[in-house]
Amino acid sequence: MSELLLQAHDLTRHYAVRRGLFQPPATVKALNGVSFSLAPRKTLAVVGESGCGKSTLARQLTLIEPPTRGTLKIRGVDTAGADVKALRREVQMVFQNPFASLNPRKTIATTLAEPLLINTPLTAAERQERVEALAAKVGLRPEHLRRYPHMFSGGQRQRIAIARAMILNPGIVVADEPVSALDVSIQAQILNLFMDLQAEFGTGYVFISHNLSVVEHVADEVMVMYLGAAVELGDKRRVFAAPLHPYTQALMSATPALRAADRRERIVIHGELPSPLNPPSGCAFHKRCPRAVARCASEVPALREVDGRQVACHVV
Ligand SMILES: Nc1ncnc2c1ncn2[C@@H]1O[C@H](COP(=O)(O)OP(=O)(O)OP(=O)(O)O)[C@@H](O)[C@H]1O
Ligand SMILES: [Mg+2]
Repeated sequence: MSELLLQAHDLTRHYAVRRGLFQPPATVKALNGVSFSLAPRKTLAVVGESGCGKSTLARQLTLIEPPTRGTLKIRGVDTAGADVKALRREVQMVFQNPFASLNPRKTIATTLAEPLLINTPLTAAERQERVEALAAKVGLRPEHLRRYPHMFSGGQRQRIAIARAMILNPGIVVADEPVSALDVSIQAQILNLFMDLQAEFGTGYVFISHNLSVVEHVADEVMVMYLGAAVELGDKRRVFAAPLHPYTQALMSATPALRAADRRERIVIHGELPSPLNPPSGCAFHKRCPRAVARCASEVPALREVDGRQVACHVV
């Protein structure tokens, strides 16, 4: 068995979409050849603006959809042709909106016990013991277990959703914007909960967030995505201390707290994210890039090692 929890190689997901009744189907290149690995007790944060393919990546990692191309290994086991049901236990997901992901008609105890009932031979008493122990770890009180989702605040609901994701002790949790819907005052508590659970259970996290302050708090590694591909990938401290890709630099300069730290200039990127239906030639970022040169319009830059991280840029 591999030491690594996840190994993604060239992971790609395209969607066929119909534009009109009489037009041929077009292809949305939502995810375009992403490669990375995740070790136990580590957090890979995925950042990038809306539509860059973060949730599409999450759906590949949680085996909700098969990739169009590329491979994904979970604990060294290739997910193509594997027993997907067994592997699914290993990768659980936490969503942005905990209310939508909890069944309103079930008590918290029932919701938390259900995965144990379906997936394990535990007795009712053992299930209850496990549910109570985990509920305590995520900061719920025993009486909470008899209540229904609508009786909780957003932060508490997210604690419940996190407990449900952790109940089968998965190796990996994929969290897609898990604190973006919460009050800022609650966000830090939930982030700390994620980190406490990771320290205790050794879980690896893929943590999707567009908020760089959140990413700086939780990540070990950062993957910056643009139009379905990674443009910069590496150790969080290195990337935050000296972002190399012009897109990473622009993203960071748009976060005032990060800009203040070393008085970086605000870099404004103009225009919108291009459509993944019709991506630009060459580097997908070249039309918005302040440093683009002629080559960027024609040649797709490959990821390569620069200063201890990977960067896909011709001018770095
Ligand atoms: N099932 C689908 N069919 C067609 N296109 C899709 C499908 N799912 C996603 N897309 C497209 O793929 C691209 C990436 O979408 P995705 O939801 O992964 O982005 P995201 O980074 O999660 O964005 P956000 O930050 O808004 O959540 C978008 O252009 C989206 O419209
Ligand atoms: Mg998304």
